[in-house]
Amino acid sequence: MTLRSAPSSATVWWARTSSADDRLLRLLDERERSRNARLRHQADRDRHLLGRAMARLALARVAGCPPEKVSFDLVCRSCEDKARAGAEPGGREPHGKPVPSGPALGWEISVSHSGEWVVLALTEGPPVGVDVERVSDARDLEGLADYTLAESERAFWKTLPPAERTGAFFGYWARKEALLKATGLGLSGGLRRVGVSPPHEAARLVEWTGGGGPGAVWLTDLDREEDYRSALAVLTDGEVEVSVRSLGDTAALLRG
Ligand SMILES: CC(C)(COP(=O)(O)OP(=O)(O)OC[C@H]1O[C@@H](n2cnc3c(N)ncnc32)[C@H](O)[C@@H]1OP(=O)(O)O)[C@@H](O)C(=O)NCCC(=O)NCCS
Ligand SMILES: [Zn+2]
Repeated sequence: MTLRSAPSSATVWWARTSSADDRLLRLLDERERSRNARLRHQADRDRHLLGRAMARLALARVAGCPPEKVSFDLVCRSCEDKARAGAEPGGREPHGKPVPSGPALGWEISVSHSGEWVVLALTEGPPVGVDVERVSDARDLEGLADYTLAESERAFWKTLPPAERTGAFFGYWARKEALLKATGLGLSGGLRRVGVSPPHEAARLVEWTGGGGPGAVWLTDLDREEDYRSALAVLTDGEVEVSVRSLGDTAALLRG
């Protein structure tokens, strides 16, 4: 008999970029504020600000501390793996998955933003990854698919009617990136190594070639507007109960 992990829960908070407000900047630490200021476009600043502010406010709520006391370590598993193998990790400024430390130690988060939407996923214990993608016309969709889809995914994708290919491509992408973000590898983990089920089937991990994949995965699609694809990955072999917070809840969270 194999023992499965106890069920866990994941909370998902959505916010529209129009909820961004400069007053939220006070919640960010120095490094986050200077990163925010370096982003060239207002839309990118809004998305970054909301992601960080939501993460701090939601963690403060569960950890029972003021949002300013929430801290993160940035963990890039790709660079950690390279360093372990003796290679030069690249000497960049700290980057990677924000892992809560201090009073929120033990909680896990993931943030994603695309177009009009910012999403935050929160779990207590198992690593989590979330991704949202706006479906947009790529100039060279075929080329992009060749570059990012695993072989099994590409074989199926090419059988789809052309009108369905763009949406399906971003559906694959969101599932794969949610998985790569849960592991902390990010895109450097290699989108083509991760194979997921086709978009019309329930989301699941099909293959992770070349080793280094997670031992257990729970994967689902998240619903957003028609022009968006989104997915949530939790690294557990147990069941996950997902609570999706409404926009009203998020507005209340942001008001503090
Ligand atoms: C980080 C990455 C996964 C984000 O993908 P994206 O589609 O551009 O953006 P998303 O909105 O979905 O996610 C952004 C969030 O992912 C998080 N993130 C960053 N690195 C991450 C990692 N390795 N694993 C999980 N999450 C990560 C951050 O919270 C980031 O939010 P922020 O920009 O507001 O701080 C992807 O761009 C990536 O892997 N980049 C690293 C490539 C690179 O620079 N490699 C060289 C060094 S390893
Ligand atoms: Zn890195």
